[in-house]
Amino acid sequence: MEMMIRGRRNRRSAAIRGLVRENRLAVEDLILPVFFHEDAADVAITSMPGCMRWSLDGLIAEVKSAYEMGIRAVVLFPKIDDALKSSDAAECANDAGLVPRAIRAIKDACPGICVITDVALDPYNSDGHDGLVVRDENGELKILNDETVEVLCRQALCHARAGADIVAPSDMMDGRIGAIREALDDAGFTETGILAYTAKYASAFYGPFRGALDSAPKEGDKKTYQMDPGNVREAIRELLMDEEEGADMVMVKPAGPYLDVIARVRDETTLPIAAYQVSGEYLMIKSACAGGWLDEKAVVMESLLGIKRAGADMILTYFAKDAAGWIKSAE
Ligand code: PBG
Repeated sequence: MEMMIRGRRNRRSAAIRGLVRENRLAVEDLILPVFFHEDAADVAITSMPGCMRWSLDGLIAEVKSAYEMGIRAVVLFPKIDDALKSSDAAECANDAGLVPRAIRAIKDACPGICVITDVALDPYNSDGHDGLVVRDENGELKILNDETVEVLCRQALCHARAGADIVAPSDMMDGRIGAIREALDDAGFTETGILAYTAKYASAFYGPFRGALDSAPKEGDKKTYQMDPGNVREAIRELLMDEEEGADMVMVKPAGPYLDVIARVRDETTLPIAAYQVSGEYLMIKSACAGGWLDEKAVVMESLLGIKRAGADMILTYFAKDAAGWIKSAE
């Protein structure tokens, strides 16, 4: 065959493939989500094989070991004791609460790590929703927006006081980014960053996470605040608002089933983009690999690279430590 152009010349050897590779995954891109509770025991999470709900001591050891592997950021997810949950979610702003204590302990043990905290009411709310809940005259559940935002501001301030580097509102209430920015600035926390969960979809892929924290809504679903999986223009609308309100970084969540959303958001913003490979994405890969049907290392690395290629700068993933190890061993 006579051909001037042969695409395979650029794929001939590992050396050439390395030269022409367009996207790479680096350990610095990875953010490790960690679960923890008040108990002294470290408990395996049944719905997320390979993940633990740590005691505070276990959490510190886990963060240190992640740091030693090159991971530079963690995001904290507490399981709050049922006795501390209430319909006003007041525990979320308790300076002596589990999260502020964890932030201080992590910062003490591992000052170089970036501590990101989740800002939303679901771990604290007896209703299991991300916002405050009332029942209207017809008996229908309503998630209050503006009242919730006030509580989120108190929660964000509590995290900032404890030393959080970045607060990450995952609740999808309207106006919370601007309100939290103002609350932080007024209190002198001008350096505390905001990672906005900008396009957080009402996804069935969060199932295992809710099992891990026992945080599923007691009634109803999250569709009046999280986004409809059919929408992508709406993600841009949320992006424009979050940018305008002062977000430092924006997030798309879940990641794998929403790569087109990541790519669209990439086109529309100069802000750094985070993508969250959520619990259901993790579980799908884990179960397929446990059955021997897929090669875990190859599939995990490909799934993460795909998320980067779509346009994400950083990835929240339960595979962060595995991926860090695999990246290191390939160097
Ligand atoms: C709650 C929150 C959720 C996740 C992160 N923060 C669950 C939800 O919105 O119901 C999901 C993460 C995952 O599934 O891995 N504010």
